[in-house]
Amino acid sequence: MVEKIGVIGLGYVGLPLSCTFASRSFKVIGLDADIEKVELIQKGKTPVYEEGLGELLKKVLQEKTFKVTSSYRELVEESEACFICVGTPSNPDGSVDLRYVREAVEMLSECLMRKNSYFLIVIRSTIPPGTTCNLIKKILDEKSGKTLGEYGLCFNPEFLREGKALQDIFNPDRIIIGTIDQKSGEILLDIYKKFHGESMPPTLITSPTNAELIKYANNVFLATKISFINMISQICQRLPNADVSVVAEGIGMDKRIGRDFLNAGLGWGGSCFPKDVKAFLKFGQELGLHLKLIESVIEINEAQIENAIRLADSLVDGLEGKTISILGLSFKPGTDDVRESRSIRLIEELLKHGSVIKVHDPKALKKARGILGDKVEYCLTIEECLRDSDLCIIATEWPEYREIDVEIFEKLMRNPAVLDCRRIYDPEKFRRIKFSALGLGPIPVDQSAGRRG
Ligand code: UGA
Repeated sequence: MVEKIGVIGLGYVGLPLSCTFASRSFKVIGLDADIEKVELIQKGKTPVYEEGLGELLKKVLQEKTFKVTSSYRELVEESEACFICVGTPSNPDGSVDLRYVREAVEMLSECLMRKNSYFLIVIRSTIPPGTTCNLIKKILDEKSGKTLGEYGLCFNPEFLREGKALQDIFNPDRIIIGTIDQKSGEILLDIYKKFHGESMPPTLITSPTNAELIKYANNVFLATKISFINMISQICQRLPNADVSVVAEGIGMDKRIGRDFLNAGLGWGGSCFPKDVKAFLKFGQELGLHLKLIESVIEINEAQIENAIRLADSLVDGLEGKTISILGLSFKPGTDDVRESRSIRLIEELLKHGSVIKVHDPKALKKARGILGDKVEYCLTIEECLRDSDLCIIATEWPEYREIDVEIFEKLMRNPAVLDCRRIYDPEKFRRIKFSALGLGPIPVDQSAGRRG
């Protein structure tokens, strides 16, 4: 029974994974190539914001069930299985850059050569179908001098959402194990049985290629669902009295469709969907397939930015020289991650139109500054951000923005106008000021009721 686990790559996936395993009777050794990150974690500080992670990290460090290193030798000596959680960014052509996975497997292989006992390698980074069986196994065989059976190999996709990482690791919908041989799969299954105990989630054991495809298909499907509702939102905007929020509620009541991932808005961003959707398109091309559906999914996502710009322009009668308050910078609430944030994309477009931008975000100001520099004004409070502006755009649906009453906008703004790009406000309550929202049809002047229900 595996008791000692290694985790390579201590980012948004690897650090939560390390801390949760360390909190449930495993001894965990985490590795990151970034020395500064290693030092920070050693001091009990998390390099990324993730709810509950800071407390859990301190706890497992104190209990000495988690330690950090930058030495592969130490990791291999002190563990029986290791999870590779390094990033798989995009190449300029959209394909996956496997550099970090390759590096990690090569480093592991060299240390594996000196290991006398069985060692299980679990790939958790998102990689194109076929990579485990071809590239990864080949490196392991060549560089470790061992053969399958002396080491084990699985692909085990992760489905955790940023901001909800701990919750998703403790209570996943399912576990997918893509295993190259029976023994590797059984050992990984035992690790999860030990971790989940009585509440073991449904599990699917299959080939690595199926598991790799499941990971991509999962993310691409969810992005498609969002683009679908954003397409409906464009229809709603052209129909008097239509509202995409109500349409989403209605179709979501069909159990076959479900309400999740039907929130219309600025579209999908973050470190996963944009890169995985593009990589999937590229992967299709390599197979000689033209995945037109995926192309449209990307086009609709882009169109939502143009859509928001059009609405903003008509609300303030021309964007040039107008002061615009942007509420929300992270790619979604609950995280400080601004990678491929739709909010940042929107701001860049507004700047091109000559608007003056003030921004607020509860967590992501620092990371946003790294991208936007001094092109915008950073505000520490919502009030400061709204003061004397001509338009407020809700770009990320942080819970605190839902609490802002219409009176606050009236009191603080020079010309109160709100564009709700994440559908957090009831349009009826905002009728006294200039208000517009993605997916909201025009209200005929002589009608005031009958929008909802
Ligand atoms: C996503 C998946 O949800 C995870 O299952 C997966 O493990 C992860 O990618 C990954 O591959 O690592 P994440 O990127 O953290 O997780 O964020 P999501 O909550 O999926 O949101 C992605 C984007 O879609 C955000 O920009 C969000 O604002 C947008 N979104 C989400 C919508 O526009 N509408 C919705 O209804 C839901």
